[in-house]
Amino acid sequence: MTKKTIAATETDTALAIELDDLIRAARSARAAAYVPYSKYRVGAALLTADGTVFTGCNVENAAYPASICAERVAITKAVSEGHREFVAIAVATSNGGSPCGVCRQVMFEFAPEMAVIITDETSIHLETTVAELLPDGFGPSCLPDS
Ligand code: THU
Repeated sequence: MTKKTIAATETDTALAIELDDLIRAARSARAAAYVPYSKYRVGAALLTADGTVFTGCNVENAAYPASICAERVAITKAVSEGHREFVAIAVATSNGGSPCGVCRQVMFEFAPEMAVIITDETSIHLETTVAELLPDGFGPSCLPDS
């Protein structure tokens, strides 16, 4: 976990700098990926409302379904340390692969309006939001007693 000095809400320029840093962090996070089976390294970097960045990588398992994606590692790290408000997530792969359906659902739980930046090692493939990736998603407000 690294604490950022520039608050995400200060100015558009500050946010752009912050997002540049976020993309770099996602690309760096790929190095730690544990991917003996797929060999497909994914890195994620999640920016919280207070400017903290949590990174994640995919961690695979010999029992394949026990594997976890980079995005969910970053989100569970953040939530487990008391953060629930998210501004943006950058996801880095070798080819600009898009977040899987399970990760879209987990992101939707906390931050439907969060920016999602999908990149490879050198360029941005897509800048979107969770709600655009998961239209009409099922969230906390869909439960009757919420
Ligand atoms: N993967 C992620 O880390 N994030 C995604 O959103 C898509 C897939 C990982 C899971 C697995 O370790 C590898 O990529 C190949 O599916």
